[in-house]
Amino acid sequence: MTTVPAFPADFLWGASTAAHQVEGNNVNSDWWQREHGHLPGAPVEQPSGDAADSFHRYPEDMRLLADAGLGAYRFSVEWARIEPERGYVSRAMIDHYRRMVATARDVGLTPMVTLHHFTNPVWAARAGGWHSDEMPELFARYVEAALPVLDEVELICTINEPNMVSVLADPEVGFPAAGLPPGVPAVTERLIRAHRLAVERVRSAGAQAGWSVATQAYQPLPGAEAVAAEYGRSREDVFLEAATGDDWVGVQAYTRTKIGADGPLPAPADAERTLTGWEYYPPAIGDGIRNSWKLNGTPVYVTENGIATADDTRRIDYTTGALNAVADCMSEGIDVRGYLHWSALDNYEWGSYRPTFGLIGWDPVTFERHPKPSLAWLGSVAQRARAEVLS
Ligand code: BGC
Repeated sequence: MTTVPAFPADFLWGASTAAHQVEGNNVNSDWWQREHGHLPGAPVEQPSGDAADSFHRYPEDMRLLADAGLGAYRFSVEWARIEPERGYVSRAMIDHYRRMVATARDVGLTPMVTLHHFTNPVWAARAGGWHSDEMPELFARYVEAALPVLDEVELICTINEPNMVSVLADPEVGFPAAGLPPGVPAVTERLIRAHRLAVERVRSAGAQAGWSVATQAYQPLPGAEAVAAEYGRSREDVFLEAATGDDWVGVQAYTRTKIGADGPLPAPADAERTLTGWEYYPPAIGDGIRNSWKLNGTPVYVTENGIATADDTRRIDYTTGALNAVADCMSEGIDVRGYLHWSALDNYEWGSYRPTFGLIGWDPVTFERHPKPSLAWLGSVAQRARAEVLS
């Protein structure tokens, strides 16, 4: 197996989660309502339920990351909890998330806070969600309400994977056999506007704002370059371009998509696949970083990258490959400032608990945490990187 190359001393090493996927009982969110058939949409295989109960157990989760040697934790605050009814802001939830930020700092983790990670309050969804012209202003108002949480936070991600929000904007549209549906232009525009409004507010609070984009490593077969460029536009590039002038951009990648003359191609039959069915392809993150840098020149944090597997040795192997790709990008002169692995915990993978992405597992009955060898491994990579540079 290859080894992990050297990284700068101030490189940020961490892991990520999202509220709905780990907190549990996010009952006022559109996703919860969909899981229980109360909102239209394709049926959901399994409801999120208690998830990892990280809503109560976050101090333990953060301590595990910090004790392993990691230096950052990316988590999201939940709009549906902060504003469970239109215009009503829960002070208790603001306090809850302030405590999360304080706890991260206390255990020595830099908090990176995401303001929107796929879920909307159910009242916003019933009013049309991102299909409604009101949504950017509603989002901006929520961001203002959440500013007290962000007091001590330097890195704020306004919206996670707006491109996935756009391509999945119609809840009835399923995934094609290969690739993704195209972005919905009006939804994309609203997301970009919401981002800009949020960036203003976050910056006025003295923090650094960015958003995180799901990159897909679109790789054209010879002769299919124009098809790939066209394919990538509404699904990725327009969102990366919108990060121009931001303080940073989050690049996220898991796998690649080969593009032929007629569009996306399924992975070859003999390709190794992960538990999500995606091709095992560690260098994907390098494609994403390069595409982002080409389109916006904005400093990069890898805000998600990882693999759903029951075999933790494959997680270590995948991450080693990915870190080599990140290092290659840096040696080409790209400003990459950190790597936050997806995910800190096994979590609710939007419909199922089967794909396990976590550095930490947990017992579904007692919620007892079971750190995997990959957590200690990634922590030691971070510690070694710091030590090598200091020695
Ligand atoms: C999302 C996560 C998700 C992960 C793996 C990203 O699209 O931000 O919420 O769990 O990929 O599918």
